[in-house]
Amino acid sequence: MGIIYNEKFKTWTLNTKNSSYQMKDGNLNYLLHLYYGPSIGDADMGYQIRQYDRGFSGNPYASRNARTFSLDAQPQEFSTQQQGDFRTSSIEVVNGDGSYSFNGTVTDHKIWKGKYKLDTLPTVFARENDTVDSLQITLSDPVSKVQVHLLYSVFEEADIITRAVKVVNGGDRPIHLKKIMSVCLDFLNGAHMDLVSLPGRYGQERQVERQHMTHHIHTIGSVRGSSSHQQNPFVILCDREAAEDYGNCYGCSLMYSGNFLAEAELDQYDQLRLVMGIHPKQFVYQLKPQEIFEGPEAVMAFSAKGFTGLSHLYHDFYRSNLCASKFVQEVQRPVLINSWEAAFMDFDDTKLLEIAKAAKKMGVDLLVMDDGWFGKRDDDNSSLGDWVVNQEKIRCGLDQLVEQINALGMKFGIWFEPEMVSEDSDLYRAHKDWAMEIPGRPGVRSRNQLALDMSRTEVQDYLIKSINQILDNANIYYVKWDINRSLADIWSNALPTDKQGEVYHRYILGLYRVMDAIIKTHPDILFEGCSGGGGRYDPAMLHYYPQYWVSDNNHPIDRLKLHYGTSFVYPVSSMGAHISDSGRLVPLRTKAVVAMCGTFGYELDATHLTEEEQQLCKEQSDLFRKYYPLIFQGDYYRLSNPFEMGNMTAWQHVAKDKSESLLSVVVTNLTCNGPQEYIRAKGLLPDAMYTINGSKEAYSGSALMNAGLPIEREVPEYTAFQFHLVRKDG
Ligand code: DGJ
Repeated sequence: MGIIYNEKFKTWTLNTKNSSYQMKDGNLNYLLHLYYGPSIGDADMGYQIRQYDRGFSGNPYASRNARTFSLDAQPQEFSTQQQGDFRTSSIEVVNGDGSYSFNGTVTDHKIWKGKYKLDTLPTVFARENDTVDSLQITLSDPVSKVQVHLLYSVFEEADIITRAVKVVNGGDRPIHLKKIMSVCLDFLNGAHMDLVSLPGRYGQERQVERQHMTHHIHTIGSVRGSSSHQQNPFVILCDREAAEDYGNCYGCSLMYSGNFLAEAELDQYDQLRLVMGIHPKQFVYQLKPQEIFEGPEAVMAFSAKGFTGLSHLYHDFYRSNLCASKFVQEVQRPVLINSWEAAFMDFDDTKLLEIAKAAKKMGVDLLVMDDGWFGKRDDDNSSLGDWVVNQEKIRCGLDQLVEQINALGMKFGIWFEPEMVSEDSDLYRAHKDWAMEIPGRPGVRSRNQLALDMSRTEVQDYLIKSINQILDNANIYYVKWDINRSLADIWSNALPTDKQGEVYHRYILGLYRVMDAIIKTHPDILFEGCSGGGGRYDPAMLHYYPQYWVSDNNHPIDRLKLHYGTSFVYPVSSMGAHISDSGRLVPLRTKAVVAMCGTFGYELDATHLTEEEQQLCKEQSDLFRKYYPLIFQGDYYRLSNPFEMGNMTAWQHVAKDKSESLLSVVVTNLTCNGPQEYIRAKGLLPDAMYTINGSKEAYSGSALMNAGLPIEREVPEYTAFQFHLVRKDG
C-alpha cells in the first residue's frame, strides 16, 4: 500500500518506490508536514520537530500557556491564515462575517485504491497496471465552517505524488476565496537549498535559472492570463550541491494554464516553504453555501539522482499518465511541413499543393495549413473568430484541397486560434460583448486582436460548433491550436460586478471545456498546442495535446537551449521542433539533427529547395522515423549545458533496455588549434559492447561513459554528429 496511516503516531506516510512523504495529525490537530525525501518506510519522523519559545511568535489560543507551540515555526501541510503563522499562507478567505481567517484542523481522513478525480480541471490518470492509492485529509474551521479537503494520489512505481485542494463552504453565508495554493511543502532546513526555474521570453522560452535561497520570498509566476513565455509552472528545489547526475531534487509541476504563483520562502529559522497554485492577482472567487472550489493538481517528484533523475521521472510519467491521445503511445507521429514560414498568409490552394508535392519528395507525411485560410485574413488585423474557409484562397473548397493532398499520399492539418477575435470580423460585429473589454475603457490591443470571454457558455458553444464544423467536413488529421496574446482588460459581460474576480479562472475552465469537447469528438486527430511559440507550454495543455510548439524561434543554435530547458520537465515527445530557413549559416543536416530532439518537421518553402536539399531532407525524415522509438520512448540525457561556455552541445537518447542509443553533438564554436574534445555518454550498460554507426570495432559502455567519444575537430562550423550505438553482444 502506497499510503500508510499509523494509528499510534497519527502519521500518514505516502511511499513510492524510492521516496516517502509524511504528515502528522499533530499538536491541537494541526496537520504538520514531517518529511519528503528518500524512503523511510513509515518511521515516525515526528522526532524532528522541536518546540521552544520563540519570541514574537504567536501561540494558538488552544495551547494556552504552552508558549512553545507556534504555527510560525511548525512545518505545515497547509499553511493557515491569521493563526500566528506569518509566513506565506496556503489560503486567504474572507468569511461570511467579513473576517479574514482560516483555522483548519484535522477532522477526517479516508484512503482508497485508485486515483482521485477533479470535476472541473484536468488531472493525470492511472493506467491499468499502475499501483495508485489516494488519500483525502479534511481540515475544518469550526467557526466559519469552511472545509479544505487535501487530496493525494501516490503513483508507486512512477515515484510521483499528486496533490489537489478542494474548498467547501460549509457555512450559511457566501465566502470569498482570495488565495488557494495547491501545494505547501515545508522543509525543516532549507538554507542549503537552491531554486531552479524556467524563465524566458517570446522566442526564448524556458531558459534555466538557479538561485540560492535567501531569507525572503522568491516568487515565480504569471499574471498574463496564461502560464506564459516568461515563466513556467514548474520549479525544482534542490540541494546546493545537486547537479545533473547527483543530489536531492524536488520537483513541483502545476497542471494549470492560467495565472500561477510559486512562492519559496526561507524563514527566520532557515525553514523553507514552497507554495504553488493559482495566482491571487485579481482572484476573488465567491462560494455560496455548500459550493465547492477545486484548485489545480500539482505533480510532485523527488529524486536523489540529480536533475537527470528528476527529469526522467517526469518524462516517463508525462509520457504515460497525462494525455489519453492515441498519438502518445499507439500511433507514430507524422513528419509534417507547416506553411507559416513558407508563405505566411500569402497562399492559395495552388501554392499549398505545390508545397505538398515538393514536401512529398522530402519524406513528409502531413501538410499543415497555418494561419490565413479563413474569413478575409490576409494580414493579422482581421477575421479571427470567423472560422469559415476563405474561398478566394481555397478556391476548390477545403474538402477538395484535402482530397488532393491525400491523393499525394499525404495527410492534412489546419490551424486555429479559437480564443481570439479581431475587431474586423463578423463575429465581433455580431457579438461585441463576447470580447473581453472593460465597459467604457477601450481595451489593450495586442497583435491587434482581442480575447474572447471564454468564461461564457455561448462563446464556448460557438467555438465548439464552428470548429467542429470545419473538422467534420474535411479529412483533417492534425490541428494546431494557437493563442497569440496575453490577457488584459479582464471582464465578463455575463457576470455580475461582484464576480469579476472569477474571470481569469473561469476563462481557463471555459477553455478546458472547449478543448475537451472538440478533442473527445475527434479522438483520431493529432492536436498540437501553440502560443506564439511556447507561451503556454504546461502539463494541463499536454493533458489535451500530445505535443506543443516549443518556440517560434527556429534558429538551431538557439533551439539547443530551448530544448535543453524544456527537457527539465517535459519529454522530448512533446516538443514541436522544425527545420526552417532560420540560421542560414547552419547546415541543413545540423538543423535536422536538432529537430530530431522533438517531433521533427519542416517550416519552409519546400519548392525553393534544390533537388539535393530535398533528397537530404528525405534522408533525414527517414532517419527520424528509424530513430522514432528511441527518441520517443527512450531515456533522454543532457550531456552538456548550452548555457555554459563550451564548444559543443550534446544530448543522448537511450533505449529502456539499453540495447541502443542515439548520441547527438552540435559543434557550436570552433576554437583555433584547441584541445581534443570528448563527449561522455550516459545510461549505457558498463559491461556491454557497443558498435558506433555500424563500425566493426565495439567499445564498452564503461569506456564510452568514462573516457568518452573523441569528436572530430577539423570540421566546418556548426557541424553535427549523430552516433548510433548498438549493443553488440546483447
Ligand atoms: C504564432 C505561431 O507560433 C506561429 O507558428 C504561427 O502559427 C503564427 N502564430 C500564425 O499567426
